[in-house]
Amino acid sequence: MVNREAVFRWHQVPGQPIYYQLLYQKQYTSAMSDFPVSLTTPLPIPISNADGTRTAVIAAPARRLTASTLLSLRVPGGLATAGVNGRYFLARCGVQTEAERWQQWQIYLRRPLFGVRRQAGLTKEAGDTWEVHVPLSADPGYAWLVQQPVGQTINLLGPLGQGFALQPHNRNLLLLADAARAPLLFALIDSMLDRRGRVTLLVRGSADAIATLTPLLPLQVEVRQATTAAMWTEQIGELVPWADQIALALPHDALPTVAALIRQRRFRVDAGFAQVLVEADLVCGVGACLACVVQVRDGGHTRTCIHGPVMDLMAVVSA
Ligand code: FES
Repeated sequence: MVNREAVFRWHQVPGQPIYYQLLYQKQYTSAMSDFPVSLTTPLPIPISNADGTRTAVIAAPARRLTASTLLSLRVPGGLATAGVNGRYFLARCGVQTEAERWQQWQIYLRRPLFGVRRQAGLTKEAGDTWEVHVPLSADPGYAWLVQQPVGQTINLLGPLGQGFALQPHNRNLLLLADAARAPLLFALIDSMLDRRGRVTLLVRGSADAIATLTPLLPLQVEVRQATTAAMWTEQIGELVPWADQIALALPHDALPTVAALIRQRRFRVDAGFAQVLVEADLVCGVGACLACVVQVRDGGHTRTCIHGPVMDLMAVVSA
């Protein structure tokens, strides 16, 4: 059996095309031999197309975590004036074989890719690098995306949606997430630390899944873990009085419990104090298909792609 591991290095010089260099490729055989390979290939330039879509470029091999995958994309520069977390692209996914084209009709729907972090490029032409979140699932579109090589172009719509909004004077930020969704809040950490605030991340999940997240976080973040429901409830109760603001990335069925704990611990809950990334089927992203409609607290309905996907927790959870 032969396994290969490729190691890349990036080159970005202002005014020059971007290059990725395959430094070496290890090929493991029974003798564990290494074969250095010398190869320099220019990356395609990310562009905004006349039809309103973007052509993005896979910038690095997909990074697999225990409960999700992070994908690094070069997109045209200056797209996000608002925040990154809670905003999403709709990606067109391809198919690899003729047989899949006949069997996988579902693959032709665009898939939402939520922003994890954004790094501005050295020049506008070089584009920005967005790390986006790919959920672990059997979905054929996501499976196709994470298999694409560095340099592959991906057609995107976006960024779309209303993301998380940190209130200007807040300094104590509490993040509540499970291990699969925690990366969806990572850019908020950078924003709060930049203003010299404090961040506590409480993660629900197995110890192994939580351990894979820790190396991705700044040292200043206090990371707490809850491996049981009792630990989760107890720690939320302890942390809510400390927080100036709370951001949540959790499945919908976990929200009523958290909302009830917040109401117990706060004398009053202002609008925007607890913001949640609402999960819905994001298909068109522009309010046309109604696939993303969710019920709100007053009994009405709203389109998540237009009025979210980040919404006030108390507005989406019944009392
Ligand atoms: S995704 Fe189509 S209406 Fe919201």
